[in-house]
Amino acid sequence: MSPRCRCLQAVCPSDRRKARRVHGVTACVLAEVACIAIIWLYGRKPGRVYTTAQEKPEDWWEVEALYDLCFAPGRTLLSSYRLREDVPPVAPLCRVARDSTNTLVAAIRYWPVRVGGSRVLLLGPVAVHPVTQGAGLGGLLIRETLHAAGELGYERVLLVGDPPYYNRFGFFHLAGVEMPPPTNPDRVQGLELIPGAWDGVHGEVEKVTMTEEAVDTFVEERNESWEDGATEA
Ligand SMILES: CC(C)(COP(=O)(O)OP(=O)(O)OC[C@H]1O[C@@H](n2cnc3c(N)ncnc32)[C@H](O)[C@@H]1OP(=O)(O)O)[C@@H](O)C(=O)NCCC(=O)NCCS
Repeated sequence: MSPRCRCLQAVCPSDRRKARRVHGVTACVLAEVACIAIIWLYGRKPGRVYTTAQEKPEDWWEVEALYDLCFAPGRTLLSSYRLREDVPPVAPLCRVARDSTNTLVAAIRYWPVRVGGSRVLLLGPVAVHPVTQGAGLGGLLIRETLHAAGELGYERVLLVGDPPYYNRFGFFHLAGVEMPPPTNPDRVQGLELIPGAWDGVHGEVEKVTMTEEAVDTFVEERNESWEDGATEA
């Protein structure tokens, strides 16, 4: 039964033909139009406005709380966290989204790593509050930051995640890239910010330590903020 019929039944318990016979065609058609209008108005959800901004130091624990909420307990035991320990994230690519009440609803972070000596961006964690999932915020943060990464001169991105989700952004399976165990190799994916950026880049994913002089050139002048944005989802 269509919602329209259900609605009509709520107004008049008899079926439509009987209703038209009892109340007249005009009254029924008017009632039907009114019902359709009510359903349309009721079903319209006002667009929610979200604001995205670079993560600030004071956002850190709020973002951690969001990750705790969105991921399974023990998330920090995952191998990717070994690559992040004691390494600052790539600040200009760490973004948060807040709703109109200033509640943090989504966050994304990136870390620098190396694969076979080449510089690579490790995407993640990315999470969207369960109440806000499916509204496009995850995709928005991923696209925004991948674009910014390209603008900042990064060439390739790596992540460990669900291929069906990340394929839409252009990620593909990286067969020759080994994350520290235990990692399901099928979930290791890469994206090229310039064509061919992953060609010939393979081997173990290595942590970038701050004692490495090269790190200075890796993060260079890139830790400058970029403009905040507002979106509707
Ligand atoms: C995964 C996540 C970041 C996606 O963000 P989101 O804002 O909910 O997603 P979007 O609105 O951008 O995209 C929604 C689409 O992605 C799909 N999708 C979401 N998570 C998915 C997943 N794990 N695998 C496959 N598809 C997924 C939805 O089915 C939907 O598909 P559709 O467009 O065909 O309807 C979010 O759901 C989340 O935080 N999940 C929990 C934490 C997590 O798993 N993080 C990723 C770690 S790899």
